[in-house]
Amino acid sequence: MDNFIYQNPTRLIFGQGQVKEQLVEQLKPYGKKVLLVYGGGSIKRNGLYEEVIQLLNDGGFQVSELPGVEPNPRLSTVHKGVDICKTEEIDVLLAVGGGSVIDCTKAIAAGATFDGDAWDLVTKKAIPKEALPFGTILTLAATGSEMNAGSVITNWETHEKYGWGSPHVFPKFSILDPKNTVTVPKDHTAYGVVDMMSHVFEQYFHQQTNTPLQEHMCEAVLKTVIEAGPKLMENLEDIELRETILYSGTIALNGTLQMGTRGDWASHNIEHAVSAVYDIPHAGGLAILFPQWMRHHKELGERKLVNLATRVWGVEPEGKSNQEVAEEGIQRLEQFWSSLGAPSRLADYDIDDSQLDTMADKAMANGEFGNFNKLKKEDVLSILKASL
Ligand code: NZQ
Ligand code: ZN
Repeated sequence: MDNFIYQNPTRLIFGQGQVKEQLVEQLKPYGKKVLLVYGGGSIKRNGLYEEVIQLLNDGGFQVSELPGVEPNPRLSTVHKGVDICKTEEIDVLLAVGGGSVIDCTKAIAAGATFDGDAWDLVTKKAIPKEALPFGTILTLAATGSEMNAGSVITNWETHEKYGWGSPHVFPKFSILDPKNTVTVPKDHTAYGVVDMMSHVFEQYFHQQTNTPLQEHMCEAVLKTVIEAGPKLMENLEDIELRETILYSGTIALNGTLQMGTRGDWASHNIEHAVSAVYDIPHAGGLAILFPQWMRHHKELGERKLVNLATRVWGVEPEGKSNQEVAEEGIQRLEQFWSSLGAPSRLADYDIDDSQLDTMADKAMANGEFGNFNKLKKEDVLSILKASL
């Protein structure tokens, strides 16, 4: 494995009742003026908004609000948040929502202390030197944004969607109460499962050697999610299953699985290009693209695909070639995601071949990509065509 230094400064506060127990204490050190950032209204419908406002008021905070963060959060909303932070001299931000709300908050936090357009931070033209502090209350298990330093922002005017990151945008704390995820509807529950599994796959496929523990840890997360996911789809209010999935989502992308390795991340890059053009749910795109990325790498990735097939999916290898076993594993993955209700073809989103070239160009914006295998434009086109 590669040399590495690991540090994750986010304080993870997990379990039922922790918002009431911890929120005020956790926010206090960072100041009085809070910008509350949230999405399109789910927290108003399930009562979490009221609870948080009450706690903040009782705690003596002065609260400003930025509602309406879109799924696939947009630069225009980041700009609104930066303006509020600057004009109202906000001390600390509180994101209450899913990955989109948290990602948007990260960009606002960095943008508020940056003398320029936050888009320059997203496009890496400038490097953030600092950020306002922020905490999160997670309401949807999926992205891992609650305990990582990554963020994905869409510029809808130019149809660009990029991931960026900085050590300055680790949340100071994240409160994860599985109860706050029970209202996530069926489709987004399934997308969350797809997203966290995809994060594991991205980190499973790397070129570093001697990484047995990393591989087994990845497989353990996959097996846990594969066992709990379908049961949760049958009973969305099961708090223990919500708890298992919530914890899995965080572990899948908080750095635990990738120590000493460099994950691939090509499928995510292609998906960001697709949703920059069509604004589809992130994990819906992944459910379509990832199996095709795997097929594209059936030879190069044979050892890992065979391990996934046999160790994770329980495929019996006797009498079959490695390629057959690898293919059976990919098919099991496709069947699993379909059984949750995830899409399997771009056509499921009415996406045809008319913009394949545009999407491939967007994916290639920073040149060849992928740490397991560097993809060229022709590879991207081939994966997109196989996904139609
Ligand atoms: O906006 P509201 O009304 O809150 O509704 C949301 C939204 O419509 C709803 N929702 C969230 N919590 C809910 C709920 N509905 C009912 N009850 C609750 N408790 O779910 C919908 C989707 O929310 P969103 O935050 O968009 O989903 P997710 O957490 O999957 O985030 C997706 C975004 O994260 C980025 C994606 O690209 C996408 O933009 N990613 C961020 C990553 C990171 N920061 O590390 C990594 C990921 O790979 C991903 O790319
Ligand atoms: Zn993802």
